[in-house]
Amino acid sequence: MGEIIKTDVLVIGSGVAGMTCAIKIAEARPDLKVTVISKTMKEESNTKYAQGGVAAVWNEETDTKEKHIADTLDAGDGLCDEDVVRMVVNEGPIRVKELISWGARFDKEHDGDYDLGREGGHSENRILHYKDITGWEIQRTIIEKATLLPNIHVLENLFAIDLLTQHHLGYNITRLTPGIECYGVYALDKNNLNVETHLARITILATGGAGQIYRATTNPTIATGDGIAMMYRAKGRLNNMEFVQFHPTSLYNPAVERQAFLVSEAVRGFGAILKTKGGETFMEKYDKRKSLAPRDIVARAIDNEMKIRGDEYVYLDCRHLEIEAFKNHFPTIYEKCKHDGYDAANDMIPVVPACHFFCGGILVDKVGKTSINQLYAAGECTASGLHGANRLASNSLLEGLVYGHNIAEDVVGCIDQYQFKAEIPDWNATGTTTPKEMVLITQSWKELKDIMTSYVGIVRSNVRIGRALDRLRLLYQETELLYNASALSPQLCELRNLITIAYLVTRSASMRHESRGLHYTTDFPMLLDHLEETLM
Ligand code: FAD
Ligand code: SIN
Repeated sequence: MGEIIKTDVLVIGSGVAGMTCAIKIAEARPDLKVTVISKTMKEESNTKYAQGGVAAVWNEETDTKEKHIADTLDAGDGLCDEDVVRMVVNEGPIRVKELISWGARFDKEHDGDYDLGREGGHSENRILHYKDITGWEIQRTIIEKATLLPNIHVLENLFAIDLLTQHHLGYNITRLTPGIECYGVYALDKNNLNVETHLARITILATGGAGQIYRATTNPTIATGDGIAMMYRAKGRLNNMEFVQFHPTSLYNPAVERQAFLVSEAVRGFGAILKTKGGETFMEKYDKRKSLAPRDIVARAIDNEMKIRGDEYVYLDCRHLEIEAFKNHFPTIYEKCKHDGYDAANDMIPVVPACHFFCGGILVDKVGKTSINQLYAAGECTASGLHGANRLASNSLLEGLVYGHNIAEDVVGCIDQYQFKAEIPDWNATGTTTPKEMVLITQSWKELKDIMTSYVGIVRSNVRIGRALDRLRLLYQETELLYNASALSPQLCELRNLITIAYLVTRSASMRHESRGLHYTTDFPMLLDHLEETLM
């Protein structure tokens, strides 16, 4: 018998979305056992690396919620759900205040007002930040808050493998089956490689993004799309997978293989200017907001300039900025650039776009319900309707806070009607052996990154997408063979999930016959009047 563990609410993910949700459920219902699992340390998440901050309308004398809504809709290029945008923007400041009440610090001006930063696509300064390590501060706050609640149990180094549904009771489940239910997950204990059964009355996926399908990404190595892939295998609904956001400015360093260092958009909000290697500005050719246009536009412009000139990077010029104020705002970025040989006071900083954020994912409604009963999802693993075809900067942490809260409200009201499903069988590992060549897994991961970077990046085409699909099919077949014959390892599970995500991104891209937001294809180029609009 494998181990069976029961918890009322199982939250998969300890980033901003998962922890917020867990805290709010645990506070509202001290009688419930809430378990949060994290596949590495609880501190490790995309949340931890957030730099720029949280967007929220803070001062209604200088900013309005209508402006934040308009900016979000504009960035989303016609695919946002306006009701969702309104809900998140209206609720945002309340959730940020709550976070502050839990102990989160945000930088203030001398007069005691919050120092509000600016990023691409925002028409006003509205970004609360803690220096250039806002995510670290938020992650610290939510973990400390969770530690104070005795009914929250955090399990680290526990890797969720698959959602438990009627499929595990022997029923044939398809994408058309109505009433699919979730009873928890199988999870791999990374300390002893045993597979445990975690039964829950309610399960919440907050597993973050999947930047690791590309060679250059700002995401940490945990960002392998596990929750989205699990949802796909469980026959749940996903949406908008083709919209993958590339951040325009990661620090250029071809030697880095796993996580590129981000140079926050807030640096451009502070006045830094993008220039070619030859020192000329170029953003005026692409958008009237120049270096502060939304991310899709800036990343595409940089990509284009690099291709025209055969350059490997462009520059971010900070030399005209007041250097002491710069160091004060961006101490981590300043030090990292200096460490790599670029002193922002005297040198231009070489930057390149890198995969940064998944706008698509698990389809959820306004309270985070998915298409599978007893299963919710929040944060970057979802397609909530907030981001549409392109996310507005600093709206992601906000989304995690708002959806964490909304899910909690819904769960505390409905959980009493659900019971544990006792009949789930143990994980079946019969006939599997430990893979003899781990190098096969690392090699396939590299191939996957190469395929996605070469063929399904910032600029796409039918031919490129077709090539990617052909190559992904082969990788998929090889990996499934290995998976079915092998005892589980986290690396193999991640590879399998990454291939699923890459396939879903590519397949969704092949089905969108237009250029919109983050999906740009040369077979359906942007209409000329659309381009002219952005220059007017
Ligand atoms: P995450 O914070 O990524 O948490 C995911 C959690 O799921 C982790 O605990 C992980 O261990 C767990 N997990 C995943 N798979 C499994 C599994 N199989 N089993 C068990 N556990 C699992 N957004 C902003 O709004 N403002 C910013 O300034 C900003 N800056 C950013 C800078 C960087 C460098 C990066 C990478 C992102 C930035 N973002 C920013 C985006 C934002 O940080 C993320 O979108 C957001 O934090 C995601 O939160 P999350 O809770 O959904 O997921
Ligand atoms: C950044 O600081 O540039 C990242 C902000 C974000 O991803 O929202």
